[in-house]
Amino acid sequence: MPEIDRRSFTALAAGTAASFVLPARRSTLIQPENVVAPAVTPAASHTVSFDKYSLLVDGRRTALWSGEVHPFRLPSPSLWTDVLQKLRANGYNAISIYVNWSYHSPAAGVYDFTGVRDLGQFLAAAAQAGLFVTVRPGPYINAEVDAGGFPGWMTTSSGTARTNNSTYLAHADEWLTAVNAVIAPYQYTNGGGTVLLYQLENEYSAHLSDGVGSAYMAHLYAKVRADGITVPLFHNDKGRNGDWVPGSFSTNGESGRYLYAFDGYPSPSSTPPDWGYFGSGGKTGGSTASPNTPGFEAEFGGGWFDCWGGAEFSGQGYAGARASRDAVYERRFYLTNLANGIKLQNVYMTFGGTSWGWLPAPVVYTSYDYGAALDEARNQTSKLVPMKQIGLMLESIPDLGKLDKAASASASNSSVKVYHLSNPDTGAHFYFLRNDSSSTISSVTLPVNTSGGALTVPASGGMRFPGKDMKVLAAGIKLGRRSVLYSTAQPMYQATIGDQDVAVLTGRSGDPVEIMLTASATPTVTVLSGSATSSFSASSHRLRVNTTLSGIVRVLINFGDGAAPLLLLFADDAASATLWRQPTAAGPVLVRGPALLRAAQSSGSAVQLTGDTTAASDLEVWAPAAVTSATWNGALVATSVTSSGSLLASSKLAGPPSVPLPALTGWRFATENPESASGFDDSGWRAANKTSSASITPVPPGQPVLFADDYGFHYGDVWYRGHYSGPSGATSVSLSYSSGTQGMLMAWLDGTPLGTHRQPVPTSSQANTQTWTATATFPIPSGLRGSGAHVLSVLVRPMAHSEDGGANDAHKSARGLTAVTFAGATPSVGWRIQGGSVTADSVRGPLNTGGLYGERNGWHLPTFADSAWQSVSLPRSDTFQGVRWYRTSFTFAPPQGVDASVGLSLSDTSSRSYRAQIFLNGWNLGQYINNVGPQHTFVLPNGILRANATNVLALAVLADGTTPAGPGTVALTLLGNAAGGVPISNV
Ligand code: GAL
Repeated sequence: MPEIDRRSFTALAAGTAASFVLPARRSTLIQPENVVAPAVTPAASHTVSFDKYSLLVDGRRTALWSGEVHPFRLPSPSLWTDVLQKLRANGYNAISIYVNWSYHSPAAGVYDFTGVRDLGQFLAAAAQAGLFVTVRPGPYINAEVDAGGFPGWMTTSSGTARTNNSTYLAHADEWLTAVNAVIAPYQYTNGGGTVLLYQLENEYSAHLSDGVGSAYMAHLYAKVRADGITVPLFHNDKGRNGDWVPGSFSTNGESGRYLYAFDGYPSPSSTPPDWGYFGSGGKTGGSTASPNTPGFEAEFGGGWFDCWGGAEFSGQGYAGARASRDAVYERRFYLTNLANGIKLQNVYMTFGGTSWGWLPAPVVYTSYDYGAALDEARNQTSKLVPMKQIGLMLESIPDLGKLDKAASASASNSSVKVYHLSNPDTGAHFYFLRNDSSSTISSVTLPVNTSGGALTVPASGGMRFPGKDMKVLAAGIKLGRRSVLYSTAQPMYQATIGDQDVAVLTGRSGDPVEIMLTASATPTVTVLSGSATSSFSASSHRLRVNTTLSGIVRVLINFGDGAAPLLLLFADDAASATLWRQPTAAGPVLVRGPALLRAAQSSGSAVQLTGDTTAASDLEVWAPAAVTSATWNGALVATSVTSSGSLLASSKLAGPPSVPLPALTGWRFATENPESASGFDDSGWRAANKTSSASITPVPPGQPVLFADDYGFHYGDVWYRGHYSGPSGATSVSLSYSSGTQGMLMAWLDGTPLGTHRQPVPTSSQANTQTWTATATFPIPSGLRGSGAHVLSVLVRPMAHSEDGGANDAHKSARGLTAVTFAGATPSVGWRIQGGSVTADSVRGPLNTGGLYGERNGWHLPTFADSAWQSVSLPRSDTFQGVRWYRTSFTFAPPQGVDASVGLSLSDTSSRSYRAQIFLNGWNLGQYINNVGPQHTFVLPNGILRANATNVLALAVLADGTTPAGPGTVALTLLGNAAGGVPISNV
């Protein structure tokens, strides 16, 4: 594997010659062995600026077509490359990332950017994949992560977060110093990488007018600049409030280096909103809040998150998010954004990933699939198809980079909404056409401004709009060397490849489409496949081609003027999904057939292609003129030349072989919770005897501070042991606690179970409730009411800290016990507390391991010797209150060259009240709550899941004793299977 050290590449958005040098680094960048990086050029610095239309990257107009990806939600650096290559191949030219402070900081002053937390490696991988990066390190991020990204140790700090409080600012500066040192070398501006933009804070909507907010923002601005961040900065306005526009706080005398951005998550059932040129305008109109900076949506809904119990999507889980924000939603909402002049568009999420360990905020469970275009198991979904169509259109039709609102136009059917825009420099006109009704509208015509004057389009027949659909009609653009009067098929791609110009035009299968081109001489039109008609008017020099979209219709036009011919590929959606472009040093290639084209390289007469198949697939390549042969993943492919000027493989590329998955057998079992026994030695535990706390939860009068955070226990389960003696007669004990969603506690007195309490499952109106409090009152059995020494043992699962979206220190609301009172007597209790260590596991990080006995003693780790444990088989049915562990090992042996994405599925009778924490090779990959759900399958990322090696799976089962508990059925499931993939290094 090559060391990527002092290398640079030219592989970014079309027309943008990006050259940069990746900083020298220790670690190796994971890269497919057979992908050789494009041309190496010396270090160069670049400019990143903007005007009111778009970004200007080295002076070139650049629209950002960006997807949100969180490195911390994919704990396997090899797979970063897989995700990034998939996005670049699918037409994205950028990604946006949050950087999660808590993930990198187990303790004040301690910052870790190694292993799965190697942000530099991620930024290098993004640069290598040819993607620009927007970085968003907070300090506050929200993002449905624990405490909105604030580290556990910050919950005990007195300074009010997200203000100009000096204690808080000192913490924030410490983080920014650390993270900016990693980011700065990867900035595009200094030739080291592709970081293009940097966000300050996130959705900061507090202290807008009291001077606190502006002082805080000014501080962040100055700090980030002082740390050597030179790219333009921006803030993400929560919705469209016009907050933190340029000029609203001090930028230390610097001007023109700060952008306004906002976010939005409109209901998919609403009419797509006009948050720019065509909207209400003004401060709350979206991009109109900042007329001199380009329209910028730092987040626009690409799905939505789901809560414990699944009320958000009626129990369907993320399939529900993907169904409601589907490909049709994407076309309607994202094209409406483009029509409104939004040139920087970031879809949140594009790969959601996994909130593994104790990452999930109270409002979400383990999976953060989000219904995104790339699913949690890294499969390309049908939602990528419109993204690729639009992304490649932005890349190859430069006129779209600068658009003004043009004269209003109306279609022949008033149910079709028309957005008319034009490019003031090139004279191109674009009509963004949307059918807001649910039924198909046919025979639609539209008056269109063309270089030949106003024309009613189409000339033959009419346009068709399936219900709730949207498309772009372009006039005055170029396809290769040729001028287009108009095309009713949406342009997707155009380039000069080899000896011809090639253009791809798309739409829905069954759409009649028409393109009108200028032709100075009499052209020869050859329909190579499918059916199409054409007519030429010698007097007007116009060539018209009509077809109905179905698969790929190929039309070759020889213009009879001695210049290169134009190959038109009319592709319906399904066909467009099989088309891929990649740059090579000798010019672009266009490939048809496989499930993915990751990269292409051409050297002399050969083109080397790297990619994936998910089934037996055609391979057809349009390549630079010198190319006469092709390889696929390193193997020569026999090809012949077609009438389309392509090389076509004589036989199909193979799909992936089937992947055998082992059954999970040979389980070992051990019981736990010695902490509940009266004789347990807790002398090494911390005394819980503080009298004051920085928490926003008041310490109840007469009680010691029992909040777990105050004793350094921030993630996972916490044990309490309360010792008391004295007067007899206590008849019941009341335990008050505070937790995130689905918190629970269990209590024992002198080793006897008293009972458990579970917070309720959120209804849809409680989906955003973050702190749940309850008091559980347990009667004390008569035999335990006597005088003498007693021990009250309590296990609390606090779940997660609240996010701090309101900038009111909500992340400092208590977790754990808050008060303990007795009826019938008032014994004085001395408390001890024990929880998980944030520093014990420096590889898996602070959020991996909680405070169960098994975790404290390494039962989750692959190295733990469980041979003395009892052998059992699953399913199990066992009624108990407490904690039990199950361990097994298995070998995962995928065939060579196959990317098999594997999950762990658990199921059982839904009335059974228990939960399981899932550890694979020591990595805490999620929490399963059998009677709550909705998640039953947990992704096991390759790299943590080791190929051709022993994998150790451990389940820590907590049961409340009210029903029999499992585990029930536990099995490996194949979630994705592709021939290809990227090389995987074990984590
Ligand atoms: C946004 C926020 C993100 C995330 C998102 C919902 O408002 O900026 O961090 O919380 O909502 O997924």
